[in-house]
Amino acid sequence: MSVFSNAERYLGVSVGGLSIRDGSRADTEPLTTLYLRSRTAAMPWLVSPHDEPATRWWMEHVVLAAQRVWVAQSSEGVLGFAAVAGHWLEQLYVDPEAQAGGVGRALLDAAKVCSPDGLMLHVFTRNVRARRFYQATGFILTDTSDGSRNEEREPDCTYTWPGQPHLSGDGQ
Ligand SMILES: CC(C)(COP(=O)(O)OP(=O)(O)OC[C@H]1O[C@@H](n2cnc3c(N)ncnc32)[C@H](O)[C@@H]1OP(=O)(O)O)[C@@H](O)C(=O)NCCC(=O)NCCS
Repeated sequence: MSVFSNAERYLGVSVGGLSIRDGSRADTEPLTTLYLRSRTAAMPWLVSPHDEPATRWWMEHVVLAAQRVWVAQSSEGVLGFAAVAGHWLEQLYVDPEAQAGGVGRALLDAAKVCSPDGLMLHVFTRNVRARRFYQATGFILTDTSDGSRNEEREPDCTYTWPGQPHLSGDGQ
């Protein structure tokens, strides 16, 4: 059985009013708004090199066009999203008003099922809350940098989730 077909179990299933679905270009506007709100609330100290129109273009033409995107949705709208490219968890953002309610974990679970061999991510060192979340969800600190490798020039950390082959549905 393919990893992908197993991951489909997460899609369209509503638990406690929360459902996880695939993202599409039609999500450009809500995901851009959520991304900017969530990022500003969590990292008010971050100087972004991109303005809102550039962020909207990136969301539509890079994130939603070239990455696997999951969207967490309730009857009230979009609550969060995750994006994976290769073995990298590129994005994980939950609306500030929906945080600490299990949305981040649900999105991360969907991403893990699609990447049973493991995932890596970068997170800014000062983003202590997100770092605690990743540590609580099985990620291990594997590298640090002084910020010279990112656009924001902000020290960052690499975290690695070593994977769980049985998630692929092969019974191992
Ligand atoms: C980090 C983030 C994605 C987590 O999503 P969330 O919906 O708030 O987290 P959840 O409610 O799903 O928490 C999942 C688990 O992690 C734990 N957890 C969450 N935040 C935590 C924290 N700050 N410290 C310790 N544990 C934490 C929860 O207790 C929960 O454990 P449980 O399932 O055993 O109860 C979210 O807070 C967010 O969007 N932050 C701002 C954007 C950001 O920084 N993204 C990361 C960029 S790399």
